[in-house]
Amino acid sequence: MRFGVLTGGGDCPGLNPAIRAVVRRAAARGHATVGFRDGWKGVRDDDARPLLPADVVGLEGRGGTILGTSRTNPFARDEEAGKVLATLERQRIDVLVAIGGDDTLSAARELHRRGKAVVGVPKTMDNDVRGTDWTFGFHSAAAVAVDALERLRDTAASHHRAIVLEVMGRHAGWVALATGLAGGADATLLPEEAYDEGAFLARVRRALAARGYALVVASEGVDLGLRRGSAGAKDGFGHEILAERGVGAELAQRIQAATGAETRSVQIGHIQRGGAPELFDRILASRLGAGAVDLALAGRMGEVAVLRGAEVTGIPFDQALGGPKTVSADWLDLLHTFDA
Ligand code: F6P
Repeated sequence: MRFGVLTGGGDCPGLNPAIRAVVRRAAARGHATVGFRDGWKGVRDDDARPLLPADVVGLEGRGGTILGTSRTNPFARDEEAGKVLATLERQRIDVLVAIGGDDTLSAARELHRRGKAVVGVPKTMDNDVRGTDWTFGFHSAAAVAVDALERLRDTAASHHRAIVLEVMGRHAGWVALATGLAGGADATLLPEEAYDEGAFLARVRRALAARGYALVVASEGVDLGLRRGSAGAKDGFGHEILAERGVGAELAQRIQAATGAETRSVQIGHIQRGGAPELFDRILASRLGAGAVDLALAGRMGEVAVLRGAEVTGIPFDQALGGPKTVSADWLDLLHTFDA
């Protein structure tokens, strides 16, 4: 068989080990792999390269994706969908492995609906794909954010300041949750919970009173009642590209105005998406990449390789899609146990 593989959507640590796993598992079973550059764009434009086991040496620990990525939606226009089908014919692809989040996997489902053999691998630092316990990229990204919070603690304590750390997470607050929980924030704001300014400021005041500084973690998707500005453009899936000034800066201003404490805000943005994958993500990406090849070889097209408990299994695209997996009430309860 000839496997095709692509990585689409926002990059995250673990994509390279996942590509390596697809190539190595396919090769181990006697099959070849072709990599498409820059996600669906490479399939649309027939931009591909053979991927031999020698091409993926050392990828288990490398950040980013050697294939490149983009937020291209190949089904946005009919003529482009035709190009995708033509490329798959021309490249003689028997099965396509789509590695991505919600958007990339929805395009994969559409391709499957149009009669092509496709399997999926979920990834995203946001950890918000349904049907899998974890997505790779999340643990590595959250570890970067926790490290940032710990550094901010030193400087906040030295200057007796309140510092707000804004992390990624537009629709789901998993990164904020993990950062606040593991980094010991005094208050953590997530998009899953309505913003309550009174309660929030009370937490900050308690922390300032107790030890002279306060640490806040806020997910970029928190709704403060003010629409965050748009950078004036949308990506291929219609998502607005957000303006640079985010909720962290706004919260810092509100804290300073209400408490008089000197306040700063830090937006770590794409720093969270770069760097070497952590141990958990290397292993998960390796398992899911190999798992997707196994699904294809078992004839289970239209499925996504996911982690359920300790096991890798396959679920239909529909179960993995249908809106972001948000932070559950149990997690929120645990998080708020540690509020100031
Ligand atoms: O990968 C998902 C995500 O990290 C979101 O949390 C964030 O809003 C978005 O990507 C930003 O992506 P980009 O700036 O790369 O388009």
